[in-house]
Amino acid sequence: MNKLWAGRTAGKTASLVDEINSSIGVDMRLYKQDIKGSIAHAEMMAKQGIVSEADARLIIEGLTGIEQDITSGALEIDMSAEDIHMFVEQELTNRIGDTGKMLHTARSRNDQVALDTKMYCAGAADDVDEMLVQLMKVLADKAEKTTGVIMPGYTHMQHAQPVSFGQHLMAYAMMFERDRERLADCKKRILSRSPIGACALAGTTFDIDREYEAGLLGFTGVALNSMDAVSDRDHFVELLSALSIIMMHVSRLSEEIITWCTSEFSFVKLPDEYTTGSSIMPQKKNPDVAELCRGKTGRVYGNLMSLLTTLKGLPLAYNKDIQEDKMPLFDSVETVELCIEAFIEIVDVMQVDEESMYESAKVGYINATDLADYLVVKGMPFRDAYNVSGKIVSYCIGRDVALEDLPIEEFKQFSDLIESDVHERLSLKTCMEKRNSQGGTSPEQVMKQIEYIRSII
Ligand code: ARG
Repeated sequence: MNKLWAGRTAGKTASLVDEINSSIGVDMRLYKQDIKGSIAHAEMMAKQGIVSEADARLIIEGLTGIEQDITSGALEIDMSAEDIHMFVEQELTNRIGDTGKMLHTARSRNDQVALDTKMYCAGAADDVDEMLVQLMKVLADKAEKTTGVIMPGYTHMQHAQPVSFGQHLMAYAMMFERDRERLADCKKRILSRSPIGACALAGTTFDIDREYEAGLLGFTGVALNSMDAVSDRDHFVELLSALSIIMMHVSRLSEEIITWCTSEFSFVKLPDEYTTGSSIMPQKKNPDVAELCRGKTGRVYGNLMSLLTTLKGLPLAYNKDIQEDKMPLFDSVETVELCIEAFIEIVDVMQVDEESMYESAKVGYINATDLADYLVVKGMPFRDAYNVSGKIVSYCIGRDVALEDLPIEEFKQFSDLIESDVHERLSLKTCMEKRNSQGGTSPEQVMKQIEYIRSII
């Protein structure tokens, strides 16, 4: 195949070389960023007198037409082109003739691809951010409906203390708030350093205006070292890290939903449309969506490791290895978007089985801390109260009776401080409502979290 870069070589490559060299199947996703970058480049060159205003107009019109035609489907991307950058340039020359050949003055594919991917990453950070906002919104809405729903709160997967289901959901909203901060931070760093103008690796002999070109593209500054600019893929690593952390959160929620859907738990039910059946067991209703999101997390982590490994041994400046960066990036962005989209629906449609959660919370002496706290309020030091409460729990286990059902006379065998108000104090509802410290599980505190999350989305 003949190449635009035919120069020292005749530009004819063996078909196997074409196959291994080609990235268009992956980087075709960058056509909008590529054209936007090229339009800014033409504008900058015209301003600097590197090309005439008339030539720049022609180039810009040609590029605008190419973008419209790719988007509308009128122009099919030629999969035999080496990459999207070569395809767009070749198509421009096909359309406007020799003027198209001026576009690549004072730049290289090295700074061009670094620019395009930075723009892609900034856009992806925005898209994922918007989806996280939607997810936080449904979490807050669901939490508002369930502030008073009591479930067992766990540590070590053992019943620990009663919590509000709303509190449990809002824990995830807080995780996604941090995820949004990471995305914003990553985007800020991307947009502060435009690589365009670094050219192949050493800058250019032309009198370019990098600040101007960067400004046209929404960047706030330029990368200060040309060699760093063309070989830097930190933005990929940062975005892939942020996406991995998002998936870690999505996967934890997946795991909980899968567990809650089991017959053993039965805390939530998913509508039939959000589950799948088994080809052999007619009774099955499987939470595949949550399982797949949990499973896809492995792939998103793998993409981060794949990229870090690709980058670790690279000497300065650009090396073709770097072309392998885009597959893991696009895959992670697309996977994370799909999973968040799925969870926006799953959280919304998930039906909460209040009774089942309550029945479960009644098991396991989940209010033992409350009994200790009760004794402290009556004047006993906490460590003693802990001890007495522990003894009462053992006593109750021996008699198979719940703490809140133990008759007052039997309580009194352990401490005179215990009075008849103990039963009300040990009800699960009171236990939950009394945890009214900031960030605690009382409906009042959960409502404050909901209001906070709503104020930032
Ligand atoms: N398709 C290439 C990539 O994605 C473009 C850069 C090619 N640069 C070069 N010096 N051959 O990295």
